[in-house]
Amino acid sequence: MQILGIETSCDETCAAVVEDGRRVRASVVASQVALHRKYGGVVPEIASRAHLEALVPVVEEAMKEAGIDADAIDAVAVVHRPGLIGSLLLGLTAAKTLAWLHGRPLVGVDHVESHIYAASLERPAPVFPCVALIVSGGHTSLYRCDGPREQTRLGATTDDAAGEAFDKVASLLGLPYPGGPSIDAAAAHGSPKAVPFSRPWLGRDSFDFSFSGVKTAVLYHVRGQGAGAKRRRTHLSDPEVADVAASFQECVVDVLVGKTVRAADACGLDRIVLGGGVAANRRLRERMRRAAEEAGLDLVLPEMRFCTDNAAMVAGLAYHHVRAGQGDDLDLEARA
Ligand code: KG4
Ligand code: ZN
Repeated sequence: MQILGIETSCDETCAAVVEDGRRVRASVVASQVALHRKYGGVVPEIASRAHLEALVPVVEEAMKEAGIDADAIDAVAVVHRPGLIGSLLLGLTAAKTLAWLHGRPLVGVDHVESHIYAASLERPAPVFPCVALIVSGGHTSLYRCDGPREQTRLGATTDDAAGEAFDKVASLLGLPYPGGPSIDAAAAHGSPKAVPFSRPWLGRDSFDFSFSGVKTAVLYHVRGQGAGAKRRRTHLSDPEVADVAASFQECVVDVLVGKTVRAADACGLDRIVLGGGVAANRRLRERMRRAAEEAGLDLVLPEMRFCTDNAAMVAGLAYHHVRAGQGDDLDLEARA
């Protein structure tokens, strides 16, 4: 079964063709990073307009890369929630039009569920059951997953998502947009022990997260008002920036790794799956790998290109919806 997937929930215009839920025949991503850079964040109106311009060429490129024409597509899958409403509407309208034009079923997909599914792409064996940590610009959640369509949320962020914290801290440190990859790069030259930011565990048994306090602690540290800061300052040297980046990253990674391993233990499951843009973070991947090994857990990391937003994870998950008889009508709505 060949499924065309479309993803436009935020600032990437994505289309992909996936065969039988696993084999990625094409995955095209048109990034809008250059358009949003000067604003230091995603501007929803600009994102919508850019999706409008990119959608048709991106879908055409995916079909060309897959080497198939529209007749060979069995279903059209699209992310319809959650995300920026204007952006979602563009992908949804394109998917509805294609489904109607070619007389194929339309399948609505949840963005976060598709991030969980990303680790299943290009893998011969199923990853379920598992505990999944989804860390992106909009989400930080832990799930117990018994199948591609069966998730129970164990905990989530009570304030900022992990990616959002990375982005804001990068901006405080004067690092370039987008912040996550910049912190990742800067941290490689710093010491994770330089600044002892306190770890937000939120109680011993909690699977919830909170990263806004660490972000504030970075702000005070940068301004020179934090514990241990020697003088008031607004400009840090490059080595100081690297140290703060590495210390902040270590703090977030400690909490993400600690809670995920504990969740696997609490659920009696021996596999951990990561997903979302922050799953591309090198320190998180390395520390999670080490922790899983020590705890005797199997760790499945999505390929880097399937961590950040893409449509292959959408088309892949949709295969399971289709097999379960789940499809949507053309009045399917977008939900922010
Ligand atoms: O999943 P994603 O592409 O979009 C959302 O659904 O939000 O995630 C984007 C987020 C951004 O906050 C970005 O800074 C973060 O993922 N990110 C990273 C890295 N690469 C992307 N965060 C930390 N380290 C990275 N290497
Ligand atoms: Zn995402």
